[in-house]
Amino acid sequence: MNVHDLYKKKLTTAEEIVKQFQSGWVSVSDNALSAPRAIYEAIGKRAEEGNLDRLTMHTFLDVFPVPCYDEKLKDKIFGVCWFAGKAGRAALEGGFADVMYGHYRDCPDIITDFVDIDAFCIMVSPMDKHGYFSTGCSASLSVAMRDKARRIYLEVNKYMPRAVSGPIIHISQVTSLCENHQELLSIPSVESDEVSITIGKLIAEEIPNGATFQLGIGAIPNEVAKALKSKRDLGIHTEMFTDGMLDLLECGAVNNSRKPVHTGRTVATFAYGTRRIYDYIDDNPAIQMLPVDYVNNVELIAQHPNFVSVNAALEVDFLGQISAETIGTRIFSGSGGQVDYVRGSYQSKGGKSFIAFPSTSKNDTISKISSVLKPGSVVTTLKNEVDYIVTEYGIAKMRGSSLSQRTKALISIAHPKFRDELTFEAKKRNIVI
Ligand code: COA
Repeated sequence: MNVHDLYKKKLTTAEEIVKQFQSGWVSVSDNALSAPRAIYEAIGKRAEEGNLDRLTMHTFLDVFPVPCYDEKLKDKIFGVCWFAGKAGRAALEGGFADVMYGHYRDCPDIITDFVDIDAFCIMVSPMDKHGYFSTGCSASLSVAMRDKARRIYLEVNKYMPRAVSGPIIHISQVTSLCENHQELLSIPSVESDEVSITIGKLIAEEIPNGATFQLGIGAIPNEVAKALKSKRDLGIHTEMFTDGMLDLLECGAVNNSRKPVHTGRTVATFAYGTRRIYDYIDDNPAIQMLPVDYVNNVELIAQHPNFVSVNAALEVDFLGQISAETIGTRIFSGSGGQVDYVRGSYQSKGGKSFIAFPSTSKNDTISKISSVLKPGSVVTTLKNEVDYIVTEYGIAKMRGSSLSQRTKALISIAHPKFRDELTFEAKKRNIVI
């Protein structure tokens, strides 16, 4: 049977796909934009009608309300968050979801070794003439899931770009597919603010021409990108590809010419932004969307000289321990690839990693620099690996600094209204300052 006949034979509706689901199944999808919206809606509907129960769904950065985090379905569908979005966070707080741990680079191996998958459901671009579908904006976990799953269900969307060097799924591997041509979601826009602009400029000054960089998610990485426009010969090797990075490619600050590997090409494992970047990825050999166990591999990152990574934190203590995923015992997000990039930058010749955040949160009522982390907070990046910490008041160097030097440096970049209190806390702990 040729690939077009196979396509027609396997084509059905999202509702019919979900009718194949049996109670007790485990379903997974890759992160963010690759979660199949019509199939997920049909799962929710079927569970609501009482025809599906004990379904476990694993999610990675949910960017729209997925049924496993819908409280009214909590007795029928159970969610496991690998990186919580808004709905996952609420479900965890409500006590009806679970959380999985792992550095992003290790997640494909965790899937292969420990997750028994009945259904891999994913949004893909339309089939090409050879019978292949591209996973488009999300390459991170798709290969591990494709190879482990008992069944593969596709939601074909003409708005999903074709990533020419990304993971592929052949029509012969597919159990059933449906079509749902729906514009991809865009990341909510983040307003520029004075604090982020200041931090962005401070970090950009530390990035030399010719460096390769990774930027995390949020206002500060966006401002770093804006402040890099006057640089030359930069390279991108990153977890998430963003609009700010595309601006740098378009203005010529990034040309990837000095990358020792993937020279001339941008490397990322997923993309989440606006239509501009989805169009940029489509059929473009200059951007390679590759699995996260490859992209976030510490040795690969370290091969780039002057590698710079920029990520955020929720809280840091005097030791420089970075808490980036919980607020006390409350789970906020996940480890993601923060440590992968901190370690890769650490090992890169001339490399630097920056953990950047505003000095306060909640309208200046909470200092994000504390003597100790809140009880129950997890440490995402260790004191032995943290390099530079940045707020709007400057940069504090941790690597090669003693506890006393770290404490002094951190107090000097804390918000002025908290500096006396922090000094008092340091003295109380007999830290020499
Ligand atoms: N104490 C109490 N609350 C705090 C706090 C603190 N020290 N720091 C932040 N908060 C609150 C904020 O007020 C905000 O509350 P709201 O949701 O009610 O508005 C919330 O926590 C989020 O803080 P914010 O500073 O806006 O976070 P962000 O959106 O910039 O994300 C991280 C920052 C650290 C959560 C995010 O970068 C992350 O998840 N990182 C982990 C993984 C990673 O770095 N991966 C690599 C790159 S993708």
